[in-house]
Amino acid sequence: MSTNQYNRFTVTAALPYANGPKHIGHLAGAYIPSDVYVRYLRLSGKDVIYVCGSDEHGTAIPNQALKEQTTPQAIIDKYDALIRECFDKLGISFDIYHRTSEAIHHQTSQEFFLTLYNKGLLSEEVSEQYFDEEAKVFLADRYIVGTCPKCGHTNAYGDQCEKCGSTLSPRELINPRSTLSGKTPILKPTRHWYLPLEKYEPWLRDWILKSHQHDWKPNVFGQCKSWIEAGLQPRAMTRDLDWGIKVPLPGAEGKVLYVWFDAPIGYISATRALFDEITSGNRKYATPRSDFSKADKDDWKKYWQAKDTRLIHFIGKDNIVFHCIIFPVMLHTSEEFILPDNVPANEFMNLEGDKMSTSRGWSIEMHEYLADFPDKPDVLRYALLTNLPETKDSEFTWKDFQAKNNNELVAILGNFVNRAVVLTQKYFDSEIPARKELVDVDKKALADLKQYPTLIASSIEAFRFREATANLMDLARVGNKYLAETEPWKLAKTDMDRVGTILNIALQIAASLAIVSEPFLPFTSRKLKDMLGVGDWNWKEAGNPDLLNPGTKLREATLLFEKIEDAVIDSQIKKLMDTKRAVELAQQPAVPAKAEISFDDFSKMDIRIGKILKAERVEKSKKLLKLQVDTGLDVRTVMSGIAEHFTPEEVIGKQVTILVNLAPRKIMGVESQGMILMASDKDGSLKLLSPSTETAPGSQVS
Ligand code: MF3
Ligand code: ZN
Repeated sequence: MSTNQYNRFTVTAALPYANGPKHIGHLAGAYIPSDVYVRYLRLSGKDVIYVCGSDEHGTAIPNQALKEQTTPQAIIDKYDALIRECFDKLGISFDIYHRTSEAIHHQTSQEFFLTLYNKGLLSEEVSEQYFDEEAKVFLADRYIVGTCPKCGHTNAYGDQCEKCGSTLSPRELINPRSTLSGKTPILKPTRHWYLPLEKYEPWLRDWILKSHQHDWKPNVFGQCKSWIEAGLQPRAMTRDLDWGIKVPLPGAEGKVLYVWFDAPIGYISATRALFDEITSGNRKYATPRSDFSKADKDDWKKYWQAKDTRLIHFIGKDNIVFHCIIFPVMLHTSEEFILPDNVPANEFMNLEGDKMSTSRGWSIEMHEYLADFPDKPDVLRYALLTNLPETKDSEFTWKDFQAKNNNELVAILGNFVNRAVVLTQKYFDSEIPARKELVDVDKKALADLKQYPTLIASSIEAFRFREATANLMDLARVGNKYLAETEPWKLAKTDMDRVGTILNIALQIAASLAIVSEPFLPFTSRKLKDMLGVGDWNWKEAGNPDLLNPGTKLREATLLFEKIEDAVIDSQIKKLMDTKRAVELAQQPAVPAKAEISFDDFSKMDIRIGKILKAERVEKSKKLLKLQVDTGLDVRTVMSGIAEHFTPEEVIGKQVTILVNLAPRKIMGVESQGMILMASDKDGSLKLLSPSTETAPGSQVS
């Protein structure tokens, strides 16, 4: 079906796992592009729903609960709330942001499973799977880690290697270990229900390789092709787990639906919930923006079953196989649902030269950005949009973020709008002037104005959001250049008609910018509309040279953007480095244990509390301090290798732990009569071991 035969749109964005905060790479992958697309469709008067929600099942959730020493329920409640709030503050305009822990989702997923089961489409098989004898559970997906057979990464999960992106199954891991006990698991038979993907290979070849060769992005099409060509395998749709949606069959106790079975169905349950909530007036997850005033409770079906609905999934590249192969097979075999018409998946966005990862401490979390830049959601949107990983991995750097803000948002868009509004304030007391006779430069500006909205729209429709964003800024450039060429501020003394014409045109450009910037920079667009004193237009009106009526008044000019100083950027870079270092240290294992000794061995050591009376540097040595220590037995000299960690002043008067019966030895010509004991931290820094309260020198340590 060609695009313009569709009468409504269902747009989904991948349901993020509620197992932690989400970072700007997730935004660039799915949420920002989908939001631009949907806002554009809405502005164009299209019938569209935009659904998302938290993915609250799978081993990722209980695994995180283990790490935070809490319950899976507490984990999903905490992160669902955090993610939901961040999306809202960033202007991601879902009609509903649902949760897969909701009853309606459990019901929808179980119904879906039963539909396939009753049609005889799921095969039941007993196979050997890894089992943790200590924790007494089967180890699915993220409950098991080991070495990736493809790239050698030693911490690959049972379902996926995060280093090389390969999809894995637990049996492929080399040296598998349980994340619950750390032990090597054993194999044990268990029964599961499988979706026989291999049976649908001909259908997939036809549907993807033939029908979508030209309209799907090459990165998406390529991945699908290599999956299909590698040969599809039956895939288990159930798991032995106690967290998730119960398998709705007798004798399936202790088994739940595979998270990748239930999560995409979450799009459907979110849509059902949306229409339930709108029609009952009882809004829990549906956002206020969704109007659908004449909606019916069953209208969700139109968005999932009517052939004239266009379904689009926005995702990151690690989700391609699930959205292009597994979920479509489920939809197809159910014979009830439409298929995605497009899956414009993005590649990954790196950060300052390295892969983004929350667990490695190398990321910018949405909530952290918002805490540091609460009034700048649009700046982040813009910096991400100009840099989306649409065709290959891209890279976010703080310097680029600063440059995009200072050199484009401030210097081009902000500057243009500000000049047009402030000059109108100055020369016409904020009243929009009329156009008089037009000269070439005016006609050229108006012709450009007419062209840009179409250009931007066709880029958006082709899922080329980077290009669309560049076109948007180019329209602001048109305005800026027009003012620079016509220099109205120089004509004010001689030709007010001319000044009026120029400012009218500049303001008409600003008005169109207010419309076409809405999908990209919704907060800025709002401010701009407020300044121009206008309401909401339809996209089709953009480019119109008579959007603003002469004689009406502009509101007070406010600045759309402000410059970001170097110091702000430097502190963000420092924060990034500090977090990474802290995470690395925390993850470093302790030095291995030494061989066992007897109590007698230990008692040979005479360890005491001492007090440092004097400390001085040792000439020609960077490392040594020469200490005088009161041991309670005597005052003795100890040469200690701590000069790189402490100044003499820092240690004088400190109580320390000292080994007093170590045979004396000469160090740099001085006899050292004992050894100060130290803790060396994971980063190599040294800490003195002082008693918790002042203790008499000579006290024995045992
Ligand atoms: N939670 C998955 C992830 O973060 C995405 C789920 S998308 C859905 O990778 F289709 F399953 F909902
Ligand atoms: Zn790997």
